[in-house]
Amino acid sequence: MTLGGPEPAAAAVRTVVSRATDPAPPDMPVAGPLVDRFGRVVRKLRISLTDRCNFRCVYCMPEGDIPWIPSEEILTFDEIERVVRICAAMGVEKLRLTGGEPLLRPGVEELTARLVRVPGIRSVSMTTNGFLLPEKAAALKAAGLSGINISLDSLDRDRFRQLTRRDQLDRVLEGIAAAAAAGLQPIKINAVVMRGINDGEVETFLRWAREQPVDLTVRFIEFMPLDGSNVWTRDLVYTAAEILEQARRIGPVEPVHNDPADPARLYRFADGRGTFGIIASVSQPFCASCDRIRLTADGKIRNCLFAVEEFDLRELLRGGAGDETVAAAIRRAVWVKWRGHLINQKGFVKPQRAMYAIGG
Ligand code: 5AD
Ligand code: SF4
Repeated sequence: MTLGGPEPAAAAVRTVVSRATDPAPPDMPVAGPLVDRFGRVVRKLRISLTDRCNFRCVYCMPEGDIPWIPSEEILTFDEIERVVRICAAMGVEKLRLTGGEPLLRPGVEELTARLVRVPGIRSVSMTTNGFLLPEKAAALKAAGLSGINISLDSLDRDRFRQLTRRDQLDRVLEGIAAAAAAGLQPIKINAVVMRGINDGEVETFLRWAREQPVDLTVRFIEFMPLDGSNVWTRDLVYTAAEILEQARRIGPVEPVHNDPADPARLYRFADGRGTFGIIASVSQPFCASCDRIRLTADGKIRNCLFAVEEFDLRELLRGGAGDETVAAAIRRAVWVKWRGHLINQKGFVKPQRAMYAIGG
């Protein structure tokens, strides 16, 4: 695998700490749904439960020593639940648990069950590498987990090992089967496509999905500059247009009109056998319909994957702040969200936090 080349400079991430006495920015509504300056309303919160992972995917993590977030800085379940209650009161309806690898967080089933019960929350889902699903899928289902997204970038054992730096393809396939057997629905398979590495597998993935006895949607994701070892270059992005072209080798494909807030554009084969998605974050950004924010494992709100500013909630949560103060800090974090990421513009700087520390 050849990786490397000139990379965008990484920008240090600035932490904004709110105080109860901070005035609201002019024009910012102080009640009602969470809205930004461009009128986008936040309905989804992605919660990173840990930055740790048992895989080392090349597009996400560096190989060597990783400066993990110290455990005392990680939000407790009580703190997470409190943030969720506050967000739900402001219109957040859907949660996604991410990592790192969320299943490494002890008690994740218990947390799921707690979050499912928060008034206003309509669904709790998860993005996982699948490794622990053979042992955890049934308990997650019992806890009320809805959908599950499983990362799987190659169906070839050697390439899987190169990409994840772990020889665990069979185990992840078992995890997918376990999720299906437990009744977790919907199941989505996330495949990050990197040019010259796994781009030849789009067709293979689609044929595989069409043959599965269970209902699953493969979603191909363009490689984004969020990797931990600075290997991203534009050349490595295998684009949505190229992915579609490969899909059409199998047969005619038609677009499915799905929710515009879903980052994946969906397509189906005209023969009725299979639906797939493409997440074209780089070549066709979907920032205009973005309805999500993120909570990092160490308690910072990120209003965008590529944000270079974070809003600290942990200090408020641990400093005795009331719910209104925490809510106001979240409102401010949402209000200042930018119009969209600047990957396609000159001078783009990648955030210093990589995907594993943001939560996908
Ligand atoms: N580009 C695109 N997708 C990524 N993911 C992790 N890092 C990147 C990246 N640099 C995906 C993983 C996982 C989800 C959390 O984000 O494949 O499915
Ligand atoms: Fe782990 Fe997911 Fe990052 Fe892979 S993409 S190293 S599975 S956090």
